[in-house]
Amino acid sequence: MSSIQIQPALSINGEITVPGDKSISHRSIMLGAIADGVTTVRGFLRGEDNMSTMHAFRAMGVNIKDDGEIIRITGCGLHGLKEPDDVLDCGNSGTTIRLITGLLAGQSFFSVVTGDQYLRKRPMKRVVEPLSRMGARISGRSGGTLAPLAITGGSLTGIDYQSPVSSAQIKSSLMLAGLYADGETSVTEPSLSRDHSERMFRLFGASLVRHDRGVSVRGGFKLTAQEVTVPGDISSAAFFMVAALITPNSELLIKNVGVNPSRTGVIDILQSMGGDIRLLNEREVSGEPVADLLVRSSRLKGVEISGSVVPRAIDEFPAVCVAAARAEGVTSIRDARELRVKETDRITAMAESLKMLGIAVTETEDGMDITGSELLLGGSVDSCGDHRIAMSMAVAALVASSPVTVTDIGCVATSFPTFFPLLAHVASR
Ligand code: S3P
Repeated sequence: MSSIQIQPALSINGEITVPGDKSISHRSIMLGAIADGVTTVRGFLRGEDNMSTMHAFRAMGVNIKDDGEIIRITGCGLHGLKEPDDVLDCGNSGTTIRLITGLLAGQSFFSVVTGDQYLRKRPMKRVVEPLSRMGARISGRSGGTLAPLAITGGSLTGIDYQSPVSSAQIKSSLMLAGLYADGETSVTEPSLSRDHSERMFRLFGASLVRHDRGVSVRGGFKLTAQEVTVPGDISSAAFFMVAALITPNSELLIKNVGVNPSRTGVIDILQSMGGDIRLLNEREVSGEPVADLLVRSSRLKGVEISGSVVPRAIDEFPAVCVAAARAEGVTSIRDARELRVKETDRITAMAESLKMLGIAVTETEDGMDITGSELLLGGSVDSCGDHRIAMSMAVAALVASSPVTVTDIGCVATSFPTFFPLLAHVASR
């Protein structure tokens, strides 16, 4: 199990780009695979999670070529996927397994999906239950609530689903099933989760209507191949935003970052804490808003975080917690129960990790209170096998009083294989 020792930094400076958006990369393969024609994808994230999606579609007969720059997917149309001759291994990727389960429910073949030890513990009922209401035949461990899941594809009927949680994975799973269902499939969520599926469905020509906190998809409409350019992932940029904000004398330009409003909760939160983050050169690429982010060291203050901003920053809480650890006063996070069912329980993992560095944290059922401090101690923290815990702790280490060792860092490759070299590149010591 590999580990890394991170030394404190004097400043964070320079101009960087971060790898492509993970959510958009997954969706580009999925829609490209079932479209008519050849889809090209630039800026694709070659992290382990996205490679799981790519392997799954190759195993269903889709020709996907990667020349190192552009991914070329020869779509086989809505009904051209082939029965895979083995289990589809989704690795650590919740997006792969939940979205693909919706897609597989509408195929005319049998398939089994599974994942690593972490994914096999994550809740699948949230997609299995509504998909079953559409007529899907899915069984799995623990009464169909845990992977592996066995899917006997067949005919589906659209439903009007009120999701109890704001989750783009639930929404997108039903949208993909909806492409194959009779009639209309509608999903409404408590507050809007990331809307990359809605945007990309539109780009590929799906029949889709958006409404307040919801979306409806009509089945039976063909998709048409597209040229997709994936922007940098704001979830990856978040670690560098926080690094530049909390390290003195820093100024960092992060170029080409996706700033879809359903993802920019982290910018709103960090700005409300006093963070100097400016959006420059705002533009739109492949139906997604993009900007360059200029971030400067700032004195941060504690804030209350709850409500509709939470799903808009759901993956960025580990980074936000590190900002809170350096802020003046208390930062309260609430309405974030979903963090307990991520790659690990991120409420407990962040609370325990920050405590190891001497920060006072009180867990609540749906969040935590973090009392910021000028002093972060060195020491050793474990990633719990979660890429975002590992990266957030490496950022905290930049301002610790002595080196911090982060253990079990192999997981960083799921979303950001170049994270550690990039951090070393911008940090002055
Ligand atoms: C994702 C949705 C979110 C997010 C995950 C990626 C997606 O999960 O945490 O990293 O690509 O749809 P939930 O839908 O479970 O909130």
